[in-house]
Amino acid sequence: MLKLGVNIDHVATLREARYRGLDAGEPDPVDAARRCEAAGAHGITAHLRKDRRHIQDRDVWRLRETIRTRLNLEMANSPPIVDLVLELKPEIVCLVPERRQEVTTEGGLDVAGQCSALARTRRRLNKAGIEVSLFITPDLHQVAAAARVGSQFVELHTGRFAKHFENLAGRKRELRRLITAARRAHQLGLRVNAGHGLNYRNLPALLEVPHLVELNIGHAIISRSVVVGLARAVRDMLALMRPYDG
Ligand code: PXP
Repeated sequence: MLKLGVNIDHVATLREARYRGLDAGEPDPVDAARRCEAAGAHGITAHLRKDRRHIQDRDVWRLRETIRTRLNLEMANSPPIVDLVLELKPEIVCLVPERRQEVTTEGGLDVAGQCSALARTRRRLNKAGIEVSLFITPDLHQVAAAARVGSQFVELHTGRFAKHFENLAGRKRELRRLITAARRAHQLGLRVNAGHGLNYRNLPALLEVPHLVELNIGHAIISRSVVVGLARAVRDMLALMRPYDG
């Protein structure tokens, strides 16, 4: 069964827009994680960024206590975060590149260019019982490098597929890249996840990619929850105001 991991970073982004620097505030990403699990999500994904722009340290500790499915922590290969994660013990870590100016993770990891550093971190995480995934563009040399690093998973970056989706030739080209990369990863013994930019429109086409274990989806789900939840939120507020009129 194809699994869904829900990325809850965007819930924290909204909270930080109003409550940055405070210890609490709404919406609470941990409460959101609980609701995703109750709705059938197979895992929760959160990215603890070096600049802590959305998810905070307290969130990941509370997520660790709360989550009943699987915690997938996205992170850069940065020593202080690796140390923290070795204590936190999420079920799986997805190593991603991090650039300060980006709005969200824009590219894949250059695994080929940093094999030995990634392999060192992979070994430390595996030794602590944490599985490792590498977020890569669907290129064969990155897939081969991921196999050399010895990670258990690759997460194929679907950003280009999403970007070119509305152009049929572009969509087909990006799908072919994903299919070829997924096949190669599977041959090399890697398990295959995918994510970034997936939404309610482009997802059906992605199902052509073989060997997928899990999709990690954030923005589209959190955006849709705002839209489908808005009428209820307005009705609840109106109900609280009603006694004023006697
Ligand atoms: N997978 C990875 C590795 C990511 O960095 C992100 C974005 O944080 C996602 C999946 C989810 O992307 P989106 O929010 O576009 O669904």
